[in-house]
Amino acid sequence: MYDNNPTLTGIKKEIDEAKQGQVFYDEKPIAEGNQPSNGKHFYIESYGCAMNFSDSEIVASILYEVGFRPTRQLEEADLILVNTCSIREKAEETVRQRLNVFAKMKRKRPGTLVGVLGCMAERLKSKFLEEEKLVDMVIGPDAYRDLPNLVAGAEEGERGVNVLLSREETYADISPMRLDSNGVAGFISIMRGCDNMCSFCVVPFTRGRERSRDCFSIVSEAKDLYDRGYREVTLLGQNVDSYKWQNPENEQVVNFAQLLEMVAQVHPNLRVRFSTSHPKDITDEVLHTIASYENICKYIHLPVQSGNSTVLERMNRTYDREWYMERVQAIYRIIPECAISSDIIAGFCGEQEHEHQETVSMVEWANYSMSYMFFYSERPGTLAARKYPDDVPHEVKKRRLQEIVDKQSEVSLRHNKADVGKTYKVLIEGDSKKSDQDFKGRNSQNKMIVFPKIDSLKPGDYAWVKVTEATSATLMGEVSFP
Ligand code: 5AD
Ligand code: SF4
Repeated sequence: MYDNNPTLTGIKKEIDEAKQGQVFYDEKPIAEGNQPSNGKHFYIESYGCAMNFSDSEIVASILYEVGFRPTRQLEEADLILVNTCSIREKAEETVRQRLNVFAKMKRKRPGTLVGVLGCMAERLKSKFLEEEKLVDMVIGPDAYRDLPNLVAGAEEGERGVNVLLSREETYADISPMRLDSNGVAGFISIMRGCDNMCSFCVVPFTRGRERSRDCFSIVSEAKDLYDRGYREVTLLGQNVDSYKWQNPENEQVVNFAQLLEMVAQVHPNLRVRFSTSHPKDITDEVLHTIASYENICKYIHLPVQSGNSTVLERMNRTYDREWYMERVQAIYRIIPECAISSDIIAGFCGEQEHEHQETVSMVEWANYSMSYMFFYSERPGTLAARKYPDDVPHEVKKRRLQEIVDKQSEVSLRHNKADVGKTYKVLIEGDSKKSDQDFKGRNSQNKMIVFPKIDSLKPGDYAWVKVTEATSATLMGEVSFP
């Protein structure tokens, strides 16, 4: 239940369960330069993190340029693409099930092509073609520009693989076609890959070396979104705090704090979020920048992974419990109204009971507004898989995870109850899930607030909402005019 998907509502870093695999399209026309259609349609399903959803928008744009059009109807698709996730075993199982469904469809409609994209493509490479014969194309995260060639080859009956990783590719010049969109909040990818080598993590192997995107292309993407009515951007990277781009013209280096400031200056009504921060790299400079711009959201996703220093060392996180606590204190000192959330892994290799208890106590101490919680899932090829036995029994992992989840629910409820009576500026995203009489929107702290509609407001507007009730996952409120 807790594997693969977040347990509480929150940021779109790990897209919520309801959205996994779904396809949504921005109804707005794509920017100028519409290419003539080739009469063929593609259908794309995305799994995993926000970075994958953002990559699918790049893929859609590349296909659009060669004449393909998106469709929400699987039956209408000439090309079916699955953008996959390898982070935990469960994620891969889900994708496999979908690929089997598509393989059956292909038997009925032999002309349909199926491609696997993303992390699983990178991890399993040609195995998909050779052993499983499920798909026609396998394309890794740095090879999307080659997709039109591979599709053309596949149309001629050639099964193709391109899983080359790059040290330079950032797709900086590609204007993403907004797929998973409410027209209000959009993702902007600011860097790719990861150099951290956390021992449990497969990402450095599937997404390659870290590289940062040209800051000017990031700012112009933010401007474009603002001009098209968007009011929130989330800057995405595996470790945004190590963003570093050197201008080839004057050798000047732009760091993450400076990038944040540049994006915040696009427009005061454009909210800026970012994910994910790394406790070893988040600087006071970044915190001061967040504090000094009203439109930079007061919310930091700062994964702890474990609250115990010995486990953190085995995880190769390169910080200890004390370092993490100091960073949390710095956040609350410099940005008092900031909310912090976390990622937590239960039952990592060799984890002892007292070490686990330190994770539970960290949830309480750090006062996380929410967390994404998982039990450890060994990933082939990672440092942990090679070095440490996966020796915490499944039942123990599950029990520890449940204890962390219970503690987080208690802390989230307390965190949310403390908001009752306060008034927040909320960016309206659309109708609430349960009723078209209610709007939903987030406050700066990334908490979802549901409140009755009033006529003068629409999605994309800001409203001042007074919180009247709270559960551990959502706030309820009403529009107030202070
Ligand atoms: N097992 C369980 N959880 C994992 N994560 C990454 N790798 C694993 C794994 N092997 C979690 C981490 C990370 C989040 C995106 O997924 O908490 O921050
Ligand atoms: Fe994986 Fe660690 Fe990089 Fe995050 S920072 S993607 S957990 S290696």
